[in-house]
Amino acid sequence: MEQTFIMIKPDGVQRGLIGEIISRFEKKGFYLKGLKMINVERSFAEKHYSDLAAKPFFGSLVDYIISGPVVAMVWEGKNVVATGRKIIGATNPAESAPGTIRGDYAIEIGRNVIHGSDSVESATKEIALWFSEGISQWQSNQH
Ligand code: CMP
Repeated sequence: MEQTFIMIKPDGVQRGLIGEIISRFEKKGFYLKGLKMINVERSFAEKHYSDLAAKPFFGSLVDYIISGPVVAMVWEGKNVVATGRKIIGATNPAESAPGTIRGDYAIEIGRNVIHGSDSVESATKEIALWFSEGISQWQSNQH
C-alpha cells in the first residue's frame, strides 16, 4: 500500500495544530503508520531539503525547521501521496484553497505549517531518511 511522509513543522507544533492535522488525515481514511516528535540537527534538515540547496531561501528554511520540535509521520492508503498534497494545499499559503491545511492555517510561505512528500519516489526517500535507525525520539526539554 502507498505511503507518504508528512511533517508538522515547528510553527504547526507551537500553534497547537498537531491534533487538527492528524484528525484531517484520519477522517479522510488514511492510516497512521508511524509518528515521532523530534528536534532535528541542522545537517539532518539540510539532507531532507538537499534538493533546495541552491535556493536563496535554503538557509532560512533550515533555520526554521530546526527552530523547535517537528512531528514526523508516515501515512498509508490508496493515492496517499497525491491526496495528502491536496489535503495540505499549495506550498504558498497565498495560493492554497480554503479547506486545505495551509489554506486554513497559514499566511507565509516561510511558515507553512506542514510538509508532504511530492511524489512516491520522494516519499520512499523521505521515509527512509526520517525513520531509519538512529533518529532518536524527541527529548522532552521544551514547553
Ligand atoms: P515544503 O513543502 O516543506 O517544501 C519546501 C519548502 O521550502 C516549502 O514547503 C516552504 O516551506 C519552503 N519554501 C518554498 N519556497 C519558498 C520561498 N520562496 N521562500 C521561503 N520558503 C520557501
